[in-house]
Amino acid sequence: MSKKMHAAIITHYRQPLPVMQPVPRPAPQPNDVLVKINAASINPIDLKTMHGGLKFLLPYQFPLIIGSDFAGTVVAVGQNVTAFQIGDAVYGRPRKNRIGTFAEYLAVDQADIALKPRNLSFDQAAAIPLVGLTSYQALHDLMALQPGQKVLIQAGAGGIGTLAIQLAKELGAFVATTTSQRNFAHVKALGADRVIDYHTEDFATVLHDYDAVFDTLGGRALEQAFQIVKPGGQVVSLSGIPDGRFAAAYGLPRWKQGLLRLASHRLTRLAHQAQADYHFLFMHPSHTQLEILTRLIEQERLHPVIDHVYPFSQLNQALTYARAGHAHGKIIISFDA
Ligand SMILES: NC(=O)c1ccc[n+]([C@@H]2O[C@H](COP(=O)([O-])OP(=O)(O)OC[C@H]3O[C@@H](n4cnc5c(N)ncnc54)[C@H](OP(=O)(O)O)[C@@H]3O)[C@@H](O)[C@H]2O)c1
Repeated sequence: MSKKMHAAIITHYRQPLPVMQPVPRPAPQPNDVLVKINAASINPIDLKTMHGGLKFLLPYQFPLIIGSDFAGTVVAVGQNVTAFQIGDAVYGRPRKNRIGTFAEYLAVDQADIALKPRNLSFDQAAAIPLVGLTSYQALHDLMALQPGQKVLIQAGAGGIGTLAIQLAKELGAFVATTTSQRNFAHVKALGADRVIDYHTEDFATVLHDYDAVFDTLGGRALEQAFQIVKPGGQVVSLSGIPDGRFAAAYGLPRWKQGLLRLASHRLTRLAHQAQADYHFLFMHPSHTQLEILTRLIEQERLHPVIDHVYPFSQLNQALTYARAGHAHGKIIISFDA
């Protein structure tokens, strides 16, 4: 058996696209499983990592294999692994310092994976881990959405949005979302109650008294979120400036905490004025939460939304398509195609 594999590699930040290269297969550490990747998904974080946009929070060393989540088959297990066996079909999001799912094999900590939902193909399962965990951590862990509460989910047709709408409905919330007219039927079918065409309508002038905003956009849209939340409301952003509270909890050095406290000052002031809470969320892997997602999927209460499936050989076309920012649901990289 060859000990090499093909992997998508960058050697420096601002490299426009990765290069496909043969590299040694990873060896599993004691708590790892070695997975043969059947499918992976593209996430905007892959593009941001390539560009260097996250290096303040997440400095990487090169060469770096990119790719942030996957579905695959266990082909070897480390000596401490008890939860998984060779042959298991699994999915997951490796921890941030061990990314690299755009490769034929991945060594991943057993705490970062779960058994793949039985009713999904590998391609379908790869659409879930990163966006599913992120949405769960925002809507359940941070917002603790309650039945009847109103939440705005920005960019409802995207990878996060299509999952988050379903999860918010599962929690019993009233869901407003923004998208283009052509996606209205799709997001309504996922459960959205109020749909706003962001090209023609300004969400901040038509929505009021919301309990929560799940912001995927950052910038002005994030600032406007504080106009629509009611006192005691929550704004959770994936794309805004990380605040001091996040910086401390994330364990950044003090000088970086200070810089982020300064940079996020305007957001914390807007939150204070609105008597609302602002959270920057940087999602994390979780075996337990993946199991919750698996259960919801197997009960057909949650399903993946896929825009397009590309073979691994066309990864760079897929990344270029993702970069345009108009996917409806997830872009999948299939290693079986
Ligand atoms: N912090 C974290 O841990 C974390 C985790 C996951 C994701 N993220 C971030 O969250 C963001 C969203 O991720 P994603 O996977 O959902 O991205 P995505 O799938 O690439 O989002 C594409 C969608 O965004 C929509 N969109 C673009 N501009 C919009 C606007 N102004 N208003 C409403 N919709 C708009 C597009 O709809 P149209 O075609 O209609 O324009 C498209 O459907 C990214 O910036 C990503 O990096 C962060």
